Amino acid sequence: MTAEVINGKDLAQELRMNMKEEVTKLKQKGIHPHLTVVLIGDNPASKSYVKGKEKAAAEVGISSSLIELPASTSEEELLNLIHKLNDDITVNGILVQLPLPKHISEQKVIDTINPDKDVDGFHPINVGKMMLGEDTFLPCTPYGIITMLKSRSIDIEGKHAVIIGRSNIVGKPVGQLLLNENATVTYCHSRTTNLKEYTSKADILIVAIGRPNVITADDIKEGAVVIDVGINRLETGKLTGDVDFDSAVEKASYITPVPKGVGPMTIAMLLENTIKAAKGLENR
Ligand code: GUN
Repeated sequence: MTAEVINGKDLAQELRMNMKEEVTKLKQKGIHPHLTVVLIGDNPASKSYVKGKEKAAAEVGISSSLIELPASTSEEELLNLIHKLNDDITVNGILVQLPLPKHISEQKVIDTINPDKDVDGFHPINVGKMMLGEDTFLPCTPYGIITMLKSRSIDIEGKHAVIIGRSNIVGKPVGQLLLNENATVTYCHSRTTNLKEYTSKADILIVAIGRPNVITADDIKEGAVVIDVGINRLETGKLTGDVDFDSAVEKASYITPVPKGVGPMTIAMLLENTIKAAKGLENR
């Protein structure tokens, strides 16, 4: 079997076109979605993500502000800034780019963001709502993955979804969202013994390991849906996923590439969340 490739770049582009129309209508009603991104230090990967977010926001008519602070910023200074942004009625969404310098507690920062402006869906209140299946901001990468599956009408209900990776940003929430869609979910991680025993039974395999090309055709079931969340930069400068695409594409039914896979979808879902945050204001 040769897999159908789900191109996240094209899907994200389509979503942005729809969002642009929606934003135009919101502006006619006096609602101007506005995202503020806070970037601490000069991690090159973070800088490049943030640039991508700004460009995508501009394309759909969402205004974005970038607050760049040095790596020496204290936790107190950052928390004060977040309080200020929480109180600023012109700011609908707040995103603090992770990772943060070691002297700042990421959890404290996340806990301080007003849950109504938490467009990352990382605040404990929003994580809890997601777990209960209530309407809330969904974390962008998991939300993007579910949107990719739904875009191809891929059955989730009753399927065995295997997640490799248990981060708070990707692994844990994507498993929860798949469970909410009635999948049977197995979590694997760095301490899992005999990983292949699990991956080879997956109908839907979500790979978020963070190391290049570790999952090959040999690890997957014939006809599996393979979602590659990895973004690894090789020494040659080339971007590659956690899945060996060239072998897996011959065995899967659907597969996402890297680049042009999950990455662009993450940014599109951030914009969806920002629009949702701005619309929330209508109800207050
Ligand atoms: N760093 C890597 N992914 C993310 C994300 O989705 N949100 C934030 N805030 N930081 C990240």
